[in-house]
Amino acid sequence: MNTKILDLSNTSSFDSALALAADTVRKGGLVAFPTETVYGLGADALDPEASKKIYAAKGRPSDNPLIVHIAEPAEVFDYAFPDSRGIAEKLCSSFMPGPLTVVLKKKSIIPDEVTGGLDTVAIRCPSDPVAHAFIAACGVPIAAPSANLSGKPSPTRASHVIDDLDGRVDLILCGEDSAIGLESTIVLVTNERVKLLRPGFITVPQLESVVGKIEIDKAVTDKLRDGERPLAPGMKYRHYAPQAPVTMIKGEDSDVRRFFAEALLDGSAVICFDEDLEFLGGFSTSSGAPIVFSLGPQNDHLTQAKRLFDALRTLDRKEVRQIYSRLPEKDGVGLAVFNRLIKACGFCIKRIGEFKNEDNRDLR
Ligand code: TXA
Ligand code: MG
Repeated sequence: MNTKILDLSNTSSFDSALALAADTVRKGGLVAFPTETVYGLGADALDPEASKKIYAAKGRPSDNPLIVHIAEPAEVFDYAFPDSRGIAEKLCSSFMPGPLTVVLKKKSIIPDEVTGGLDTVAIRCPSDPVAHAFIAACGVPIAAPSANLSGKPSPTRASHVIDDLDGRVDLILCGEDSAIGLESTIVLVTNERVKLLRPGFITVPQLESVVGKIEIDKAVTDKLRDGERPLAPGMKYRHYAPQAPVTMIKGEDSDVRRFFAEALLDGSAVICFDEDLEFLGGFSTSSGAPIVFSLGPQNDHLTQAKRLFDALRTLDRKEVRQIYSRLPEKDGVGLAVFNRLIKACGFCIKRIGEFKNEDNRDLR
């Protein structure tokens, strides 16, 4: 397939790019577009054949449902039923437009192909102006997963989308880098409970300030046992995994830095914090420059979120054999960074120094 790639930074062609994108969607085609979280791969959510094309283009298993993207928050209830306690309405009025996805009982207008046969639908209203303009121009809800090949890190830059999907989709709209860099927070809302299925930029304390205490699905922090099923089917797949094995290192700062320095000399790559860089600067392998990628300052979860997927893709391109990474704190947006990293490393945490004999309490 010949993929059209349009640069949106040229404002004179913005309207015509959007018109072409909307026309492509209405004809059943696939359009990749920027959002504030990550780039999405969109198609008409009311057209089952268009959704099937998304699964084929990404190589995505058909039991992994798609998020339905809408232009205005009020449209949530065109496609899903509210819960009996009014919790969904509260969440939508507090966090939409924005990086929150709500999972609710679906209305019959949403095809089974979009929801992987589930009787619920995930709905999100992006705040990114380009995403909003694109969805509004289409005039239909847009089914969109992240615009990466299945199993690759989500795309946070137009170049990531081109790397994965050139030749597999009709159109790629190239905008700015994603402002947040991790996918939306997903919550399941039933008449009985609110449950966090995937952590993101909207944090647990923010959600609880609006709806009271929420539950956290085990799959957010724990490795599931064989046969256990997460409530968000996508969480069961080995996501965001670079080619090289990733291990997270837990220990005192000084111990972790020493470990990283030895690993670099050995030809491994390191994902660290800014505070580590000074110490690691002097270490290089005989074969060339060490491969060090900083996620940002240790306490700056927002910068870490923004850089993580780019770090994993960059290290993938360098074809390193082993990647060692810092372990982010699990508070606020840090929980989302931690969640993506434990999936990238297949829950592999190595404890050093005084943490050596600790059990698996990080994974709880
Ligand atoms: O930020 C985002 O959410 C991005 C942008 C493009 O909006 N989209 C995104 O989509 O991350 P995707 O397909 O990569 O991840 C969607 C997740 C999957 O884990 C899927 O299993 C889950 O949402 N999901 C979708 N519908 C669901 C449902 N009805 N019940 C439970 N989980 C659902
Ligand atoms: Mg995805």
